[in-house]
Amino acid sequence: MARLLPLVATAVLFPLCILAADPSARCLALQQTLHLENTTILNVTYADGPTIVATPGVCQSTASTSVPLCRVQFVINTTSTSAVHAEAWLPDTWFGRFMGTGNGGVGGCIDYQGLDYGTSLHFAGVGSDNGHDGASGLPFLNHPEVINDFAFRAVHLEAVIGKQIVQAYYGTPAAKSYYMGCSTGGRQGTTAALKFPADFDGILAGSPATDFNHLSGWLGLMYHAIGATDPSIANVDSPSFIPPALWEVVSAEILRQCDALDGLVDGIIAEPDDCDFLPDILVCEGGPSSSCLTGPQLLALKIIYSPLLGTDGELIYPRYSPGAEANPLAASVFGGVFGQITADWERYAVLNVTEHNFTDFGLADIARFDEVNPGGIESFELDMSEFRDRGGKFVTYHGRRDPVRPPTFNYSPASASLLMHALQLISSTHSKIVYDRITHTLGTPSLDGFYRLFLVPGMSHCYGGIGAPAFGQGPDKALNVVNASSHNILLALVDWVEGGVAPATIIGSGVNDTERTHCRYPIESKFNGSTFVCL
Ligand SMILES: *[C@@H]1O[C@H](CO)[C@@H](O)[C@H](O)[C@H]1NC(C)=O
Ligand SMILES: *[C@@H]1O[C@H](CO)[C@@H](O)[C@H](O)[C@H]1NC(C)=O
Ligand SMILES: *[C@@H]1O[C@H](CO)[C@@H](O)[C@H](O)[C@H]1NC(C)=O
Ligand SMILES: *[C@@H]1O[C@H](CO)[C@@H](O)[C@H](O)[C@H]1NC(C)=O
Ligand SMILES: *[C@@H]1O[C@H](CO)[C@@H](O)[C@H](O)[C@H]1NC(C)=O
Ligand SMILES: *[C@@H]1O[C@H](CO)[C@@H](O)[C@H](O)[C@H]1NC(C)=O
Ligand SMILES: *[C@@H]1O[C@H](CO)[C@@H](O)[C@H](O)[C@H]1NC(C)=O
Ligand SMILES: *[C@@H]1O[C@H](CO)[C@@H](O)[C@H](O)[C@H]1NC(C)=O
Repeated sequence: MARLLPLVATAVLFPLCILAADPSARCLALQQTLHLENTTILNVTYADGPTIVATPGVCQSTASTSVPLCRVQFVINTTSTSAVHAEAWLPDTWFGRFMGTGNGGVGGCIDYQGLDYGTSLHFAGVGSDNGHDGASGLPFLNHPEVINDFAFRAVHLEAVIGKQIVQAYYGTPAAKSYYMGCSTGGRQGTTAALKFPADFDGILAGSPATDFNHLSGWLGLMYHAIGATDPSIANVDSPSFIPPALWEVVSAEILRQCDALDGLVDGIIAEPDDCDFLPDILVCEGGPSSSCLTGPQLLALKIIYSPLLGTDGELIYPRYSPGAEANPLAASVFGGVFGQITADWERYAVLNVTEHNFTDFGLADIARFDEVNPGGIESFELDMSEFRDRGGKFVTYHGRRDPVRPPTFNYSPASASLLMHALQLISSTHSKIVYDRITHTLGTPSLDGFYRLFLVPGMSHCYGGIGAPAFGQGPDKALNVVNASSHNILLALVDWVEGGVAPATIIGSGVNDTERTHCRYPIESKFNGSTFVCL
């Protein structure tokens, strides 16, 4: 192995490792030489360059690799009734960095795209199945240890074991450790900073599904508001159901009322929390029609666009962001099905039953989520002091039209996971609340020293949407449009951890080479007459 000076987007000197002669033989030898606690090496293979590899499990059948790398597939027995399947991707050209990756929804699917992206930037990446295979929550049933893997343990062990594999392969430990994930992956990154603050030096946590009990409860009440009762049948005949064509009317009215608030009428509401949408103007004057609201539909909208409060008036979860419904994919969020995340969490994790009737879903169900709190998923005080004090850096981002992300994983037809992905959403307002709560817990006036939240106008869940939603956030390497830390939030995190240069803004890219500067909370994105600036 040769050790040279770095070639990274940062000015910091950093170990570059290029494996010397015959990386393939060195790789395949791991099958015999790796001996790790509670861990079985399932397979070791070498990919010579860009190729398609077969993947295990039901989530997908193949994955792409972009660079020559050694692939180690392994399983960690986490208890006698649970196990985490994982993979390490070890590129020939390694910049001395470790990267853990996360998962989505209530799955169950290794983030192969994230591994490909990370290794293309010369990280050694590890991804796990989060303790169960597939996008369904059914494996939680009667298996509290599988829930523990999902809630906190899988990412921790992928860091612990993954770093040992990295050291064994390259002959030197990783100099710095990173984490990259979105949605449930964002929650896992947040949990890592709270529960295992020594696991990662830099964490990139997108659209985090923190407050998971309340998030899934809020989703349940939104589905309930439009009459959804069944996870497998769309109740489009409910009086409160709002058909896709009527959502277009609602969306146009929201834009009419709120698009100009940020200074420019461009179809993007930069700050949805400034929008006090008044739906009453859409109520049908005469009889019902397809372009006006009936009483039950109006009530549904009032529920959706109001914060969810508990019986004592306390905030359980912020409202749906006005403008998010304009995402063409939002129709599937409000498709009349009782969403799978809430359904699986309640049936399989909270109640431990196979069948449940969601017709009367309400605040009592959410109280039950809190009471049972499977896997201790909610039980954190958002005290990031230990992570901060050991120099950790946390970067998070959230799209402001986060209703859904287009399914991009190559799911096998047999899996029902596509539906699950089409039904998830996380209010970006919640990321502001989390920011404020961490600030309060730490008792500091600003989190700027170690934690930055970038709010992305127009962006959907994790990526996609309108505006400038590509800034190197992964998991797809195609989102790395401009390979520099000014435009790539992962490289910006590296600069912060290794060079002490914090990202003030992130420039996103959109269609036709458009760019927009994304601001860090609490700084707002404002139109100054010619462009959007952070004020
Ligand atoms: C991005 O930059 C890194 C070096 O920092 C380089 O190795 C990589 O090939 C670049 N990727 C693209 C897509 O240009
Ligand atoms: C993990 O558990 C399986 C099934 O119980 C067992 O066959 C295997 O030997 C265990 N592996 C390790 C490394 O403990
Ligand atoms: C290991 O991977 C190779 C290449 O994909 C495959 O042919 C072989 O069947 C795998 N072995 C096991 C034990 O999974
Ligand atoms: C291995 O498993 C045992 C028993 O489940 C546990 O006590 C120990 O912490 C595990 N070690 C690692 C590295 O996970
Ligand atoms: C579900 O049942 C299993 C035993 O089958 C039990 O160990 C577990 O604690 C139960 N979980 C809940 C949330 O009741
Ligand atoms: C579900 O509950 C509702 C209201 O309590 C009831 O009307 C309905 O019959 C129940 N459905 C089933 C399948 O039990
Ligand atoms: C992008 O450019 C093409 C060709 O000029 C144009 O037709 C299209 O409307 C543009 N798209 C957007 C969103 O501006
Ligand atoms: C708006 O901000 C941009 C970037 O800072 C600047 O170049 C431009 O002059 C400003 N325009 C106005 C009208 O102030």
